[in-house]
Amino acid sequence: MLVTGGAGFIGANFVHHTVRHHPEYRVRVLDALTYAGNRASLGPVDDRVEFVHGDICDAALVDTLVAGADVVVHFAAESHVDNSLRDPEPFVRTNLLGTFTLLEAVRRHDVRFHHVSTDEVFGDLPLDGTAKFTEQTAYDPSSPYSATKAGSDLLVRAWVRSYGVAATLSNCANNYGPFQHVEKFIPRQVTNVLTGERPKLYGTGVNVREWTHVDDHNEAVHLILRHGRIGETYLVGSGDERSNREIVELILALMDRPTDAYDLVPDRPGHDLRYANDSTKLRTELGWRPRFGSFRDGLAATIDWYRANDWWWKPRKQAVEEGYRAAGEIAS
Ligand code: NAD
Ligand code: TYD
Repeated sequence: MLVTGGAGFIGANFVHHTVRHHPEYRVRVLDALTYAGNRASLGPVDDRVEFVHGDICDAALVDTLVAGADVVVHFAAESHVDNSLRDPEPFVRTNLLGTFTLLEAVRRHDVRFHHVSTDEVFGDLPLDGTAKFTEQTAYDPSSPYSATKAGSDLLVRAWVRSYGVAATLSNCANNYGPFQHVEKFIPRQVTNVLTGERPKLYGTGVNVREWTHVDDHNEAVHLILRHGRIGETYLVGSGDERSNREIVELILALMDRPTDAYDLVPDRPGHDLRYANDSTKLRTELGWRPRFGSFRDGLAATIDWYRANDWWWKPRKQAVEEGYRAAGEIAS
């Protein structure tokens, strides 16, 4: 199994999960170790995994690695909306050209491909209402990040239809868990509290996301690899929707701080209001169920992980906060 982006948040958790629960695979990771990649995230499974430091846009390297694989699971991406607003170029390169490069290689070598994507390709839903995205929802991305992920999904679908590539796709809701970069919402607020900074809420914190534990996402990917139908897309989501404000208050409560000890900061331009996935297809066809039934417990365990592993996140924290400040973030 070739795992792209295996030194990132979801990819590293996927590699851990695979080694632990699916030992039939021999795993090779291809990762460029961008600012988001961390070799240390694979430390606990180092003796079970082969690591290749390289770029998914490097066609010669990708060809060699794909030729030696039975299956490719594609996580590598530029993944942060705020970064895409500041500088979209790496998003176009990695998410579009990188996915294209992988697709050409799996086409040449007839290798099974799974493409990991996001529900952000569908745009957003109104705040008041119960509508959800389905596999039939039209693509309507808002940010450079989601536009390039949408483009990559469409490339995969075209390569299935035009060239018969054996690919599946999954579009998951927001993930949380260990090894997530401190630029992202939950780790940023937890590590703010741990470093004596106040959590930062964009706008008024009303935006809603559906939070899925990274292990539940990764088990869905394994189910799709084993039993998913080629050419099909599966939406993944726990069903647990929360406003950003609710989450910051929960983090503060779980960390024994006053629940109003946060700052409101200027809103993200084009900020998507609400995401929610209808994952009925994954549940009924493949029998997927989230194991992390309680978001509160999963969040508490994630906070404990950040508390116990400051060696992992502390070296990157200052640069991230400086980046947000340089981009104009100030408490209102
Ligand atoms: P991440 O930013 O934590 O990790 C991305 C990894 O890809 C890093 O290790 C990085 O070094 C690597 N990478 C980047 N550019 C590369 C290149 N050109 N060549 C090789 N490696 C490269 O991202 P993540 O949060 O783990 O997301 C993984 C995938 O899951 C992405 O495709 C993302 O769109 C998707 N996704 C993420 C979420 C979420 O909540 N984080 C939700 C749904 C889907
Ligand atoms: P993020 O983790 O960037 O994921 P995405 O934008 O892909 O959903 O952000 C999750 C939500 O949290 C989103 O509505 C933006 C918001 N947010 C804040 O309120 N404060 C922050 O410091 C960050 C990073 C995000």
